[in-house]
Amino acid sequence: MRRFMGGVVVAGALVGFALPAFAAVPDGLKVAQANACMGCHAVDRKLVGPSFKDVAAKYKGDGAAEARLEKKVRDGGVGVWGAIPMPSHPAMSAADIHSVVGWVLAGAPSK
Ligand code: HEC
Repeated sequence: MRRFMGGVVVAGALVGFALPAFAAVPDGLKVAQANACMGCHAVDRKLVGPSFKDVAAKYKGDGAAEARLEKKVRDGGVGVWGAIPMPSHPAMSAADIHSVVGWVLAGAPSK
């Protein structure tokens, strides 16, 4: 019995640590991972596209940026950061685009 209780306590402790860590992943990051954004973007270094931290810094204090960037993610575009185009994402829901753009503009936090 004593050993059994010990097992329950250990299992409970593991779940207790694992669940908050999982829940802490921001929705915007989940959307970015699920839509292959991270194949071209990283949070803090340039890949094919600009780093998400650079995007956040560029549009800091720009109240119109959110709507503009949501449109850019949906429709694609080119010429702001260079000659490589950003592809369109017509299959993404407006809610997912809103979530991922909000996350990028917040500086792409990891939790
Ligand atoms: C095939 C590569 C590729 C993929 C996939 C991609 N991007 Fe981009 N992204 C780019 C490039 C290249 C640019 C720079 C475009 C420019 O210079 O106008 C860019 C620019 C951006 C910008 C800044 C736009 C601006 O006008 O300043 C945001 C925000 C962005 N991407 C978000 C995303 C999100 C969110 C996803 C996933 C849904 C995504 N990107 C997927 C290549 C990509």
